[in-house]
Amino acid sequence: MSERPILMFDSGIGGLTVLREARVLMPGRRFVYVADDAGFPYGAWEETALRARIVELFGRLIAEHDPEIAVIACNTASTLVMPDLRAAYPATPFVGTVPAIKPAAERTWSGLVSVLATPGTVKRQYTRDLIHAWASKCHVRLVGSDRLAGLAESYMREGAVDEEAVRAEIAPCFVERDGKRTDIIVLACTHYPFLVNRMRKTAPWPVDWLDPAEAIARRALTLLDGNDMAVRSTAAIPDDVAVFTSGNPDYATRRLMQGFGLSTV
Ligand code: DGL
Repeated sequence: MSERPILMFDSGIGGLTVLREARVLMPGRRFVYVADDAGFPYGAWEETALRARIVELFGRLIAEHDPEIAVIACNTASTLVMPDLRAAYPATPFVGTVPAIKPAAERTWSGLVSVLATPGTVKRQYTRDLIHAWASKCHVRLVGSDRLAGLAESYMREGAVDEEAVRAEIAPCFVERDGKRTDIIVLACTHYPFLVNRMRKTAPWPVDWLDPAEAIARRALTLLDGNDMAVRSTAAIPDDVAVFTSGNPDYATRRLMQGFGLSTV
């Protein structure tokens, strides 16, 4: 089995929701978790500048970590930069994370689906194209949230979250039309699954919250060679690490990483 790591990338801690699924499927693999916390939040970035930043950053990450594959565990980045990354680094297989609009359209009963994402993801042509390709028979509401990624970050570090703020951010997802109601909400930001229990609690009615993390991990697995269910020999492989582009994560962040089995470098 290859000892080259799987690189898992996000603007912050959201990619940990994908990492935890990837670990279940690929316990034998080594992971390097990269948070571009110096650029967080990605949601408000101008597209050209964000694209250039991520492509440039990957040059260094690939040189430093030599990953077997790289998972972009971030919708805001993936809906923008996948073609550029693949063109710039053709030797590295990339897996992206894009809004789970197709499975939502397949599963909805009411035909009313909402996509909860960062303002960046909501604005992307890529997201509009997904709706056009897979959900043209549904009524899809795109809801861009300025605050939820930040709320998820502080919830995971500090253990508390302003439930009223969560309620206000998710409220526009709930639509009633012709006697029908929204029945599926796509969590199109990898940070949001950390808040899903608070979302359930503050939702005006029950819905399915679609988290694509497991599907992304499955896709990553298909790109790897070797026996990935093999259990890692801890003696042979060093610990998984977390890299922060700020170079300076605070104590609470380092503790959080430790809880996910990542030592901070
Ligand atoms: N976790 C990221 C995503 O999946 C975005 C968070 C942010 O940087 O705003 O879209």
